[in-house]
Amino acid sequence: MALKFITAEEAASVVRHNDNVGFSGFTPAGCPKAVPVAIARKAKEEHAKGLPFQIGMFTGASTGDKLDGELARAKAIKFRTPYQSNKDLRTLLNARETNYFDLHLSELAQMLRYGFLGPVDVAIIEAADVTEDGKIVPTAAVGITPTICRLADRIIVELNRRHPKEILGMHDIYEPEDPPRRREIQIYSPSDRIGLPYVQVDPAKIAGVVLTDEDNEGGAFTPIDDDTMAIGRNVADFLVGEMKAGRLPKEFVPLQSGVGNVANAVLGCMGENKQIPAFNVYTEVIQDSVISLMQEGRVKFASGCSLTVSNQVLENIYAQLSFFRDKILLRPQEISNNPEVARRMGLVAINTALEADIFGNINSTHVLGTRMMNGIGGSGDFTRAAMLSIFTTPSTAKDGKISAFVPMVSHMDHSEHSVKVIITEYGVADLRGTAPMQRARKIIDNCVHPDFRPLLNEYLDMGIKGQTPQNLNACFAFHRELSDSGDMRNVRWEKYK
Ligand code: COA
Repeated sequence: MALKFITAEEAASVVRHNDNVGFSGFTPAGCPKAVPVAIARKAKEEHAKGLPFQIGMFTGASTGDKLDGELARAKAIKFRTPYQSNKDLRTLLNARETNYFDLHLSELAQMLRYGFLGPVDVAIIEAADVTEDGKIVPTAAVGITPTICRLADRIIVELNRRHPKEILGMHDIYEPEDPPRRREIQIYSPSDRIGLPYVQVDPAKIAGVVLTDEDNEGGAFTPIDDDTMAIGRNVADFLVGEMKAGRLPKEFVPLQSGVGNVANAVLGCMGENKQIPAFNVYTEVIQDSVISLMQEGRVKFASGCSLTVSNQVLENIYAQLSFFRDKILLRPQEISNNPEVARRMGLVAINTALEADIFGNINSTHVLGTRMMNGIGGSGDFTRAAMLSIFTTPSTAKDGKISAFVPMVSHMDHSEHSVKVIITEYGVADLRGTAPMQRARKIIDNCVHPDFRPLLNEYLDMGIKGQTPQNLNACFAFHRELSDSGDMRNVRWEKYK
């Protein structure tokens, strides 16, 4: 069947009010750009005429501003799942002007297949290549592409010529069967290939192909500051110690590392530490540091869901495809983040906390327990399943006024039962095999900023009985003080006794 080439505006007309739309990509990598901008324009035009226009949105994870930003500003989002990090969308969902369902990333595809989230009416996919018989080669990410293509009634392809067709071979597309027929996912090592190098769709469903020439929306990483570097070194030193103690195998285990600057710096420090052997990565986002470590021979293989790299790094990868082709595999997030695979391979998982409590519970998502920051992302997929789950965080935020460590987290994403180790710029709290009181002492002594250590020790000494000595009158004193005076250091326990 011949492909039908259409404009972005024509593609937008395929999308109707109240449709549920699935988008390719994961982080800005691999997301469509021209068609979402056209849909946002259409929404504004409809709203100007007094007509309703909103869509439900399924994405891989966060997206670029041309997707989440444009549609949020156009007030065109009815609901959104599973993860976001866009400023304008964040404002909208915290104002409760759109419904946001924060979901473990590995679960979205199967929840769509199970029918828990309604139909997928349209799939909009950025591609490096598409053929008349329905073979779609994704670009720099996979996300939920195979599932939304299979479930959608209509598929729109954004064929972006910035991504070479020769990327064919860097993807491994596999969708598990649904229960009760599901079998094991046969990945025993990060480089194992189990699927096709393209997404096979029914060509009759392709409503049109939009030719584009759009830059990736890859942001740059901010320069690494001293605290971030100290966190990275503490993680690397801790892992070397684990290896020497025989608790990690000498050949090492695959590494999962979260999003952002801290994660990028941690990987950089691990690469620099020559006591750690060259290692494999089994993760969701492959960031800049993985690529440079690969060039230095420190990372042997990276399996992920997306190349979340700066534009310059992406161009370098494309310019040296023969070098990278057999060292990178991009998979659907159902596989890159799969707890079965993570548990089998025994990952070291390193993710970032927004806030932790002195008993080892982690808040990754909600500022002061109420305002959504981004979402849980893949952190839960990996934290519970990994061999060793580490959380990193700077000990304070906002010039030292906020302690990352509080008596009780204001929202809990990862509980003390899953979190094995916490690391800040001050040091390491190894929580394995410890009771709550032992955990608290380790966290306060090793990780908390010195400004807050006396306050948190006093909290523990306030004489509450029980396995976990929480004081329900005082456990949110840090948060209340931040609201009252803007500085957690002003907490005085007399107020709460
Ligand atoms: N209370 C209030 N604000 C806080 C805070 C706290 N305890 N800790 C940090 N902040 C503020 C910072 O000051 C900063 O504010 P700004 O944007 O105004 O400068 C903001 O929150 C972000 O903090 P930062 O330290 O820059 O965070 P980050 O970029 O390292 O991201 C998370 C941290 C937790 C938000 C991010 O890692 C995330 O979304 N995690 C969940 C998903 C995940 O783990 N994915 C990876 C799985 S593979």
